[in-house]
This record gives sequence, C-alpha cells and structure tokens, in this order.
Amino acid sequence: AVKQKVAVIGSGSWGTALARIAALNAAEKKGFHPEVRMWVREREIPGKGLLTELINNTHQNSRYLPDVSLPHNLRAVPELADVVKDATLIVLVVPHQFLTPVLETLSKPGVLAPNARAISAIKGVEVAGDQIYTYPSIIEKRLGIPCSALGGANIALEVAHSEFCETTIGVPSPEDAALWHAVFDAPAFRVHPIEDVAGVSLSGALKNVVAMAAGFVDGMGLGGNTKAAILRIGLLEMASFTKEFFPESSSLTFSHHSAGVADLITTSFGGRNRKCAEAFVKTGKSFTQLEHELLNGQKLQGVATAEEVFHFLEARGRLQDFPLFDKVYRISFEDMDPKCLFENL
Ligand code: NAD
Ligand code: 13P
Repeated sequence: AVKQKVAVIGSGSWGTALARIAALNAAEKKGFHPEVRMWVREREIPGKGLLTELINNTHQNSRYLPDVSLPHNLRAVPELADVVKDATLIVLVVPHQFLTPVLETLSKPGVLAPNARAISAIKGVEVAGDQIYTYPSIIEKRLGIPCSALGGANIALEVAHSEFCETTIGVPSPEDAALWHAVFDAPAFRVHPIEDVAGVSLSGALKNVVAMAAGFVDGMGLGGNTKAAILRIGLLEMASFTKEFFPESSSLTFSHHSAGVADLITTSFGGRNRKCAEAFVKTGKSFTQLEHELLNGQKLQGVATAEEVFHFLEARGRLQDFPLFDKVYRISFEDMDPKCLFENL
C-alpha cells in the first residue's frame, strides 16, 4: 500500500507545534512515511549557523517554541519543492500574509504529487471588493487538490507542552476525515472532524477580530463581566456573518465545536491578538510597533482580518448589523476612542 507522506509548510510557533504532533504520529502509526518535512525560511543565525541546521542538530525551534524537544524524524528543509516532494498530505500553516508566494511555487507543474491533499491551519480571510474567500477555497482553486481546515482552542505553546486540548477539522469528504485524523489525533490533542470546511476556517479568522475587542476591554482595565459580554456578542456576530455569507456552513460549528466558542475563549484570554490590543490601548503605540516589540518574530493576524472584514461589510452595505466588527476596525484604524466599543452593541 502507498505510504502517506506528510509535509508541513510553515515553522512559526503553530507550524512547529503541528509538525511535532504529525512527526510523533508518523513515527508510530502504520501507513506513514516516517520522515516529516517542515519548510523553514533559511536564515543565518549570528554565531550559530543556518537556521535549518540548527533545528536539525538541536531538535528545537528555540525562537518560536522555546524549551520544546522536537522528534528526530522531523526535518527542517529550506527549499519548498524539496519539502513537498512525493508528499501526499500537505499542511499549510504560514501566517496568511505569506501564503501567495508559497502557492505560486506549489502550483508549478510537477512540484506536487498528483494524489496530494492539503489542510489549512491558517487563520484569516481574503477580500476583493464585495467578495470574500476562505483560505481552503483559495488553496483548492490554486492547487487543484482538496483542502480541509484545522482550527480550535490551540495556543501553540500549550499544545507543544502536551496540555490536553481539542481541535476541529473541517473536511470535504470522509476520506479526508480519516486521513487527517490519523495525522493529528493524539491523547492530548483530540481531533474532531466535521463536514464544514468554511465554518472552521471562518471561525478561526473572525475570532481574532473579537479577541482584539477583548484586548481593548483589558486595556481599559474593565473586568470579567464586560469581557464575557463582548465574547457573547462577538460569537453571535461570527455566527451570523457565516450564516449570511456562507449559508452552506453549520451554526453548530460555532456553538458546539472547539473551532468556535472554545477558540474564541482561549484566544481572548491567552492569545497574541488580545495581548497586542491591550497594549494598543495602554500605550497608544501602533500595532506594527507592538507586533515587533511583544511577539519576538511571531505575527499578528487579527488587525489585517479586522480590516478585510470591515471593507467587505462596507462593500456589501451590511456594517450596521455587525457593530462589534465595525468598532474594532474604527478603534484600530480611525483613532476611535476605545470607550466607544460598547455603543450600539
Ligand atoms: P508565527 O506568528 O509564529 O510567525 C512566524 C513564521 O512566519 C515563521 O515561520 C517565519 O519564518 C514566518 N515568516 C516571517 N516573515 C516571513 C516572510 N517574509 N515570508 C514567509 N514567512 C515569513 O506563525 P504561526 O503562529 O505558526 O502562525 C501561522 C498560522 O497559524 C497563522 O494564521 C495563525 O493565526 C495560525 N495559528 C496560530 C496559533 C498559535 O498559537 N501560534 C494557533 C492556531 C493557529
Ligand atoms: P493568537 O494569534 O491571538 O495568539 O491566537 C492563537 C490561536 O489561534 C489559538 O487557537
């Protein structure tokens, strides 16, 4: 039988944490090629040599996942075409602003195996005028292969420390469900496949906008009642946005699954979007500066998503029914006073 070969594209904190689980499973389970390759953008680390060699020699990605040991069958590889060579299962997990050049390389003839399938763990959306696209749909169209979505209450460092959590995988077919479950399910990382690719992907994007509102609440020094109210209102906006613009999606994805309510909660307490939004209110510094100062090379996704979602709703003339999404944009981009967050909610 053909062995499944896993390739992970992206080596930030989440890319490395997912690659670690996939490699542990590939080493143990039948039907998998034992080596898992992970794409690392090559860099020279002063005094230490090339980043890929450093990761392969120390079995650590010390910048993005400090103090986490990586399995020896996980290999950092600098060339994208080498990472995906003969791979049947491709995990896309770069911050969304870096996906375009990746897809350009992968779509060249002969780069991908003909039977490959993909999964996106990217949290974001793309907007063009009054059209909105999820990343699995973009990947599927550009690469011509089926694409699932992975999302859940999954702060990377906690997952990498094997603290119990759950994730949701939105799949286009039962075959995808079985394969991706085998790649990622682990005792401390419980995978639940559901047939709602768009819902899982959108939930991961939209909860980052709500998490920014939660950060504004923290920045204003307000308490748990206010934050809970913002999360409840935010969850409703997430669900009604999806119902209106992706009617094939299920509302259960938001209320019942890790990708919905659970991810919203964890991100709004322990995530990077929350952290930078709190500092934005407290310091008045720009998000670009805060990303640089607070995240040590990691990337903020919520600010760009707030902007995309605002412009999409504006183009559709639908802002009035999404007052929380509207305010997050105006506070972030138009100098609106954070205290106005609560108006018209
Ligand atoms: P990250 O925020 O740690 O970003 C670092 C990564 O970006 C590194 O791989 C770096 O090489 C890459 N990078 C930086 N500049 C680049 C450039 N110019 N071109 C190409 N790559 C560049 O990344 P992450 O946390 O792994 O996030 C990836 C996706 O996973 C995001 O969409 C994020 O929302 C999502 N996600 C993250 C977490 C988490 O806890 N970190 C959890 C769930 C989902
Ligand atoms: P942040 O990008 O806000 O850290 O959120 C991480 C995440 O998506 C957890 O599931």
